[in-house]
Amino acid sequence: MSERAATGGLEGVIAAETVLSHVDGERGILLVRGVPLAALVADHRYEGAVALLWDGFVGDGMTREAAQRDLAAGRQQAFARLGSWLDLAAGRTPNEAVRLCLAALPDDSTPARIAGALPVGVAALLRARDGKPPLAPDPALTTAADFLRMLHGAPVEPRLSDALDTYITTVIDNGLGASTFTARVVASTRASLAAAVLGAYCAFTGPLHGGAPGPTLDMLDAIAAAGDIDAWLDRKLAAGERLMGFGHRVFRVRDPRADLLRGALQTLGPDAGRLAFATEVERRALAALARAKPGRTLQSNVELNAALLLEAVGVPRDAFTPVFALARVAGWLAHALEQQKTGRMIRPAARYVGPLPPESAAGTG
Ligand code: ACO
Repeated sequence: MSERAATGGLEGVIAAETVLSHVDGERGILLVRGVPLAALVADHRYEGAVALLWDGFVGDGMTREAAQRDLAAGRQQAFARLGSWLDLAAGRTPNEAVRLCLAALPDDSTPARIAGALPVGVAALLRARDGKPPLAPDPALTTAADFLRMLHGAPVEPRLSDALDTYITTVIDNGLGASTFTARVVASTRASLAAAVLGAYCAFTGPLHGGAPGPTLDMLDAIAAAGDIDAWLDRKLAAGERLMGFGHRVFRVRDPRADLLRGALQTLGPDAGRLAFATEVERRALAALARAKPGRTLQSNVELNAALLLEAVGVPRDAFTPVFALARVAGWLAHALEQQKTGRMIRPAARYVGPLPPESAAGTG
């Protein structure tokens, strides 16, 4: 591999010091403020994970209850401005609508207001698309339960909101992913938190990153329609295409988030009927990847189970990325705040490989 190819993705480059999350890709470990992912999901849940991430940035000694109150207040603030958002969103895809709505946030928006905008906005946008009026948030509920209530028009069974809570906790932060890095770059210039989150969202939407769960489900459907799993996989790999839901820049072993989400999916029982087929596709895809890329360690990432879970709790496929963002926004905000505290603008260098003016070339001769 040429030096340019090796560094073009900044792999292995330390671009920030953080107390927020740590990814050990060789051992399949993800820590949020020192808490292993399984304990984060079991003991802290989403609001507790937000408290861990925001502690010291949004307030000192932040508790899960304080995070719950803040996030609920943020949802209410977002609901108060929903009318203008729905105008902006008319006729747009969910992704486009979320981009526009984030862009409309005032520069002085607080972290809670920015975070609250996503569950309220996404639920309302999806309902408006079906000709239904928005529902006001319920401050007594968690983000997951309130989002599903606002989306479906009535409170949902706890097993559904618990499953979504597991998902949004699992993906709340993951080191310096492309979107998180973007949030830090924008924040480092002393632009607003709203600007940092908008930038992060834009970086997030690509299919190699947070845009992956929808296309992952498309892939599953295409394989089911084609019938022969191995033939489909081999054909795509031979054509140089990527298998969605596999590979990761940092994880070299199975993404630990995939198994946590599988556990949550299993609690959904018959609603997750696609799980058996997806498990078979996953097994065969790993074998196909090992055949096609023998020198690479390509493992399952979080997206296949994430997509199945989002489908099982009733999120439309074209809104998977906005719902993923509804979780990750807490991480983006924490990283933006942490970056601002350093006071240092991120400004790397590029190696110039273009032409030089003739006199300069002559001068070096
Ligand atoms: N299918 C087929 N080949 C793959 C895949 C895949 N899913 N992932 C990596 N490869 C191949 C690359 O084509 C490349 O092959 P080459 O060297 O012969 O050209 C090699 O493996 C590179 O591997 P890495 O360096 O590990 O990959 P990189 O870090 O560049 O990419 C990425 C990581 C973007 C996630 C990639 O694995 C991918 O595109 N996966 C599919 C999309 C996806 O599921 N994205 C979600 C990721 S999780 C998240 O961001 C939330």
